[in-house]
Amino acid sequence: MEALQDVLRLPAERLFKEELDALKAADTGKVPAGWQLSPRSVLTFITGGEAGGRIITPKYIGNKRLVEMAIATLVTDRALLLIGEPGTAKSWLSENLTAAIYGNSGLVVQGTAGTTEEQVRYSWNYAMLLANGPTPEALVQSPIMRAMEAGGIARFEEISRCASEVQDALISILSEKTISVAELGKEMNARKGFSIIATANTRDRGVNEMSAALKRRFNIIVLPAPPDLETEVEIVRKRVGEIAAQYELGAAAPADEALIKVVTIFRELRSGMSLDRKEKIKSPGGAISTAEAISLLTGSMALAASFGDGELRDADLAAGLQGAVVKDDDKDRLVWKEYLDNVMKKRGEEWRGLYTACKELNS
Ligand SMILES: Nc1ncnc2c1ncn2[C@@H]1O[C@H](COP(=O)(O)OP(=O)(O)O)[C@@H](O)[C@H]1O
Ligand SMILES: [Mg+2]
Repeated sequence: MEALQDVLRLPAERLFKEELDALKAADTGKVPAGWQLSPRSVLTFITGGEAGGRIITPKYIGNKRLVEMAIATLVTDRALLLIGEPGTAKSWLSENLTAAIYGNSGLVVQGTAGTTEEQVRYSWNYAMLLANGPTPEALVQSPIMRAMEAGGIARFEEISRCASEVQDALISILSEKTISVAELGKEMNARKGFSIIATANTRDRGVNEMSAALKRRFNIIVLPAPPDLETEVEIVRKRVGEIAAQYELGAAAPADEALIKVVTIFRELRSGMSLDRKEKIKSPGGAISTAEAISLLTGSMALAASFGDGELRDADLAAGLQGAVVKDDDKDRLVWKEYLDNVMKKRGEEWRGLYTACKELNS
């Protein structure tokens, strides 16, 4: 195994290994077949708490009931589909649920327009296939097939980006819980514990609308954007702290004032309304999600640490904001300019520094 500190990004089961071990040791609930924890312990792992005197950090911040419903879905043999706007923690929740339930979040199919049926079912090692014909050794299992064999959970990211033939292949897997390998005259039956957690963006609607037949195979849970400023600030503060520590950014954590400003700007642009609901605001074309607020702040911290004195300044934030809001589009540039002049400029002394820094980049 490679040295932990050299890995760019650890999967959840390794990042939170000690927490998972503590939960396992303290687990008194009934553990479903194929699972490594009871549903209640999985819930604690996701929403936070303690186990055997050890603090379990919350991974998903938001409505606990949604997480309970997600876990309950996986207790039955139904598959789980998490949908929502970009950056609402669909992938993050899917990874952490899989880490807690199965212990390996790495069996992933990434959905794109180019995803093939073979990537969902199986393919062949062609050199071996040509040399010896179809043999079990020449079979290359998809992550889904491997999850079936192991009684584990496969993840399917951005499922609605896949062409309909690929989605159809999934329907038969989910309804039959088998994949037949005709070339070997063999059927692969899923072991207990097998399931799939898929994610889809609501912004991708219309790319490839998911068929009704496929939707019926899933329990669908909609992950909402954070309901209020406080919750979103809490999510951003926590994740920025974790990511900064992971990358050893060496910049001071952003002050609450900076967090609140960034999240305020994002919420206003997202909702098309000032927080006091007095003013209409135009929204930019791209998504301005919680996840983008997090990467904006970590990016600004990297700027401050690498080229400043390690203190996050208005100029560092301004550069990040500009990049997050204006995505290669003249309309976005106008929207951002209007926001600066009609909203931010009028906010008075506290916002003056950030306003001036943003304005300088935009003239
Ligand atoms: N409600 C939330 N609780 C915890 N983290 C969140 C929440 N919403 C967003 N995040 C953070 O946003 C980041 C990106 O989320 P991601 O799962 O990639 O979004 P999605 O797949 O929905 O586009 C993650 O670092 C995640 O921790
Ligand atoms: Mg995602």
